[in-house]
Amino acid sequence: HRLLDEELPDAEVLVVSNREPYIHNRTDAGITLQTPASGLVAALEPVMRACGGTWIAHGSGSADRETVDAHDRVRVPPADPAYALRRVWLSEAEQDGYYYGFANEGLWPLCHIAFVRPTFREQDWQQYQAVNARFADSIVEEAGRDDPIVLVQDYHFALLPRMIRERLPRATVVTFWHIPWPNAETFGICPWRDEIIDGLLGSTILGFHTRFHCNNFLEATDRFMESRIDREHGSITLRGHETMIRSYPISIEWPPAALAGQAPPAQCRAAVVARYGLPADARIAVGVERFDYTKGILDRVAAIDDLLTRNPDLKGKLVYIQAASPTRSKLGAYSALQDETVRLAGEINARHGGDGWSPIVLSIRHHEPHEVFELFRAADTCIVSSLHDGMNLVAKEFVASRDDEHGVLILSGFAGASRELSEALIVNPYDTRSMAAAIERALCMPAAEQRERMRLMRDQVRQRNVYRWAAQMLLDAARLRKRERIVTAS
Ligand code: F6P
Repeated sequence: HRLLDEELPDAEVLVVSNREPYIHNRTDAGITLQTPASGLVAALEPVMRACGGTWIAHGSGSADRETVDAHDRVRVPPADPAYALRRVWLSEAEQDGYYYGFANEGLWPLCHIAFVRPTFREQDWQQYQAVNARFADSIVEEAGRDDPIVLVQDYHFALLPRMIRERLPRATVVTFWHIPWPNAETFGICPWRDEIIDGLLGSTILGFHTRFHCNNFLEATDRFMESRIDREHGSITLRGHETMIRSYPISIEWPPAALAGQAPPAQCRAAVVARYGLPADARIAVGVERFDYTKGILDRVAAIDDLLTRNPDLKGKLVYIQAASPTRSKLGAYSALQDETVRLAGEINARHGGDGWSPIVLSIRHHEPHEVFELFRAADTCIVSSLHDGMNLVAKEFVASRDDEHGVLILSGFAGASRELSEALIVNPYDTRSMAAAIERALCMPAAEQRERMRLMRDQVRQRNVYRWAAQMLLDAARLRKRERIVTAS
């Protein structure tokens, strides 16, 4: 907030994302509020609470419309309003083409290299363009001045930066791509690769989680577009407009709101043991994510199977609790993953379980942040085995939840978070045997070693928290704005 006052006086901040931070649903108990399972929301919501402004997003709850004023706006969070939420209402056809189709059957598998074939359909592309244009309309409507700072979020809006630039040429557009950017050869599969790159280069600043993804973007632009690339300064000039390409590793708020009111870890453990009917001395491993094929859930379950086969002493003791929030279930690849996970867990439970003990517990439903934090605090180890992931905030949340400095993080080397959390046990999720070995090592790790690793990781997340992520982007934006004004004035 102070940064905005000092560095960007009179600035107007607009955030635009597909996912809204608060979903209002109509239930038997009246209108209830849901916090979506979204890394993007977990990161940006505290920033908006601190800075204020307007967040424009797709309205997705069954009672969202009942909460807004005549301009489709509602002040949030409901208990302590800090910023405005403006909903854009999408038809089923728009949702199908733009969100399920182009964004999640095209760009999502394309960028994650998770061996699910990307599907590109002409009609999805048309909806994607149309919905990007609708969000551009909302931004122009919401902007009270001709030079707002617009924070564009994610792969749903690759065309939006260019659209904003055309309609509000003085705007500062900071775009953040929350998922990986693949190498040029892979990205080149997309039939509309030129349009996507061109759209993104309407930004003033384009951010990725890692330097590696920035380099991939520079390489793709070099390969497909006629532009001037300055690798030393990390910038691209296309048709006279310069875009800075920067890495900003996203993070979480510190301390996380979900930590407030949590019982001590021993009590969290007792609560989880009672909830799932576990033996009192159970060794607890947890995994928390959206039910997405990029997260490596099947690979993790296979590693538990391998571990129990090789170390039968753990039978009756080790429990793996998978909290999985259903997501994008309309798409075949997602419903197939759910079915296959349930089938495989059943098979493993039948093979190794008995006497009222099942090694794999699946909790397939939405989990609110305070429940997730209780689970984290109850765990001996948390397993994040993404096959590919931009950052992965579950890893950082686990670390933040352990103020007792206990617990072991097992983390995929293919998640951006592994660049920062190198004291985790880093694994290759495709290598079942070594994943099983890492779980075994986590369960045997002496308390002193756990503390040492956890301390270092907690320091990292504390210092490089999400306020710093936002501040770095806003400071870069402020610098560029000042420079531009000096150049225009001279
Ligand atoms: O960056 C990926 C992301 O947009 C994150 O917000 C989150 O992890 C996930 O995808 C959310 O997916 P959805 O909004 O489609 O449920």
